[in-house]
Amino acid sequence: MAAIGDKKKTYDTTGLKVPVSLGVIMDGNGRWAKKRLLPRSAGHRAGAENLKELCRNCGRYGVKYLTVYAFSTENWARPEDEVHQLMELFVEFFERYDPELEQEGIRVRFTGDIAALPEKVRNTIAEGEERSKNRQKMQLIVAMNYGGRREIENAARRLAKKVKDGELEPEQITEQLLSENMYLPDVPDPELIIRPSGEMRLSNFLLWESAYSEFWVSQTLWPDFGYDDLTQAFRDYAGRDRRFGGLSSKEGKS
Ligand code: IPE
Ligand code: IPE
Ligand code: MG
Repeated sequence: MAAIGDKKKTYDTTGLKVPVSLGVIMDGNGRWAKKRLLPRSAGHRAGAENLKELCRNCGRYGVKYLTVYAFSTENWARPEDEVHQLMELFVEFFERYDPELEQEGIRVRFTGDIAALPEKVRNTIAEGEERSKNRQKMQLIVAMNYGGRREIENAARRLAKKVKDGELEPEQITEQLLSENMYLPDVPDPELIIRPSGEMRLSNFLLWESAYSEFWVSQTLWPDFGYDDLTQAFRDYAGRDRRFGGLSSKEGKS
């Protein structure tokens, strides 16, 4: 049995088809805090702590790319002090926990409209990417000020500029070329997207990349989302019949 891991957890990947690229919408911090009569900021802090746990578990299960939704282009609509706390927490998290990420061999990258973030956050991003660039085990991609529509808009603008400059013919614009002009074209599209906290929507996460992603929702709120939830998601994912518009492999053979 190909079991790896520590005393309590069995990272048993025998026969388990684990996604190479996984997306997680880290939702439910506010509800987690409310249930405990705590301020929303306490929920965000608990959520940030839980990201370490997810990274550890994904790394040991053999996920290669983990993209997490940390702050959307729509989250600016929240009260100013909540936005401020989220930005501060982001900086603190990546400065304080880098040694642990390093221990797990995790390279950190960011996706989103980074140029529009405060300078302090941009510095944390630049330092985090530089410091971790040679780590090999897994990539943690943090979607920060990310919006799927903003990403597509950005790709469209880049291609339009090339057409205007005479470097590209409109007929040369293909799905492939659009993919190559997304924020991180080398990151494979996620095979699976997990959303804790019960909401059945993407909320503008990876719109282009999720065309054929499997979707899995837990009732668990993000700060409580642990090893058992992840394992269940992987088991369910392994049993899905991904047809991509064709026939299932069984039908195709008969
Ligand atoms: C996710 O938790 C964190 C961010 C969106 C930044 P929420 O803050 O959305 O938590 P709920 O949905 O209110 O419970
Ligand atoms: C999505 O959660 C964004 C993040 C988790 C960062 P939201 O809580 O912002 O999504 P909605 O508003 O419920 O769709
Ligand atoms: Mg939410």
